[in-house]
Amino acid sequence: MDSIIVTGNGPLNGQIPIAGAKNACLTLMPATLLSEEPLTLTNAPRLSDIKTMSALLQSLGAEVSALQDGQVLAMSSHDLNNHTAHYDIVRKMRASNLVLGPMLARLGQAIVSLPGGCAIGARPMDLHIEALEALGAEIELKDGYLHAKAPRGLKGATHELRFASVGATENTVMAATLAKGTTVLKNAAREPEIVDLVRCLRAMGAQIDGEGTSTITIQGVDRLHGATHPVVTDRIELGTYMIAPAIAGGEVECLGGKMELVESFAAKLDEAGISVTETDKGLKVARRNGRVKAVNVTTEVFPGFPTDLQAQMMALMCTAEGTSVLEETIFENRFMHAPELTRMGAQIEVHGGTATVTGVERLKGAPVMATDLRASVSLILAGLAAEGETRVSRVYHLDRGYEHVVRKLEGVGAKIERIKDE
Ligand code: EPZ
Repeated sequence: MDSIIVTGNGPLNGQIPIAGAKNACLTLMPATLLSEEPLTLTNAPRLSDIKTMSALLQSLGAEVSALQDGQVLAMSSHDLNNHTAHYDIVRKMRASNLVLGPMLARLGQAIVSLPGGCAIGARPMDLHIEALEALGAEIELKDGYLHAKAPRGLKGATHELRFASVGATENTVMAATLAKGTTVLKNAAREPEIVDLVRCLRAMGAQIDGEGTSTITIQGVDRLHGATHPVVTDRIELGTYMIAPAIAGGEVECLGGKMELVESFAAKLDEAGISVTETDKGLKVARRNGRVKAVNVTTEVFPGFPTDLQAQMMALMCTAEGTSVLEETIFENRFMHAPELTRMGAQIEVHGGTATVTGVERLKGAPVMATDLRASVSLILAGLAAEGETRVSRVYHLDRGYEHVVRKLEGVGAKIERIKDE
């Protein structure tokens, strides 16, 4: 196993390129199952989760080739020969459950392992099941697997999600593209990754309106054709690197960043005294002098403050002037980074879904442990501002969602290295 060692090294300066979005790519890849014709994704991120999704699609009989150093994914589902997504792949990555809708729509049947528990919450699939049942699917849970079938095909319907779940919206929209008739999905999630998915499906011949709003209308078609689609910029990687100059000082331009992807987050940085400006290449973030101001944050569904940036924001608030309150409303157990940050001298009190952070002058480097993807990067960000050395272990969590972290941060002056644990 590897660890990453970060040594506080003063202000950062330079540019960081932002990759394609993991959470868009993980829903775009299963869309290949909807058509016999090839689907090619460009600007794909090089991450272990993408490799896991490739392995899952290949286990169903799809062809997946990573070209151009992995930034292009050429996929074809012409000869699917298996409709079971096995536990040994699904347990590695929950997003595997995004093959359920497309397989059901294309093959009329699908068997998908339930992912099981996760570090940040229970994360059930009840909303996915309710929506697909509304489209006429028969779904039963047997031996830890969801057995879904629609022998006469899916049928369009009007359905309201009880919660604007990202995954349930993605599975339902994909399934409805090949259903007979019209589906109206209400209280749909509005995340940019869903807008990107709909753009890709439309390029494949789907008839969809309303992406980015709470009501998405899908007019079913008989078949979808091939397409080439560029993956949208990763707004969570973007937000993460926007915090680097905020916490360590300096000025960094995030290449490919767009304000529309991070509006509510950027507004919080502005409130904390961090300047965020649009450039012709991306977003420039700077903290020249003075300490960060404490601000309160509540995570919400898009366009609210993203839960996937809560841990990184907590790291920043650990160094702020004053006390901030962070409320996590999306996942029930997403403060695992707090005790690790406390090991670095942070002052954090957690009660249920609320964390109260009293900023300190300076964090101190310490050995800490990554517990999930976003928690791991928050520890690296804290290390950029800490006195001495921070050693983050179990960084395999990081590889799931961040490509070339060491190279990207080194490029703006950070003192950081990856080492193999003895
Ligand atoms: C997506 O997960 C992202 N993952 C998550 O990013 C992100 O945190 C989340 O959306 C919220 O923005 C991918 O896109 C691969 P949800 P997803 O369904 O689709 C509950 C990261 O760090 N719920 O919107 O699983 C659920 O338990 C990851 O990159 C049900 O109760 O999120 C959670 O509390 C972490 N029943 C809430 O809704 C359901 O059937 C939001 O889940 C579905 C969800």
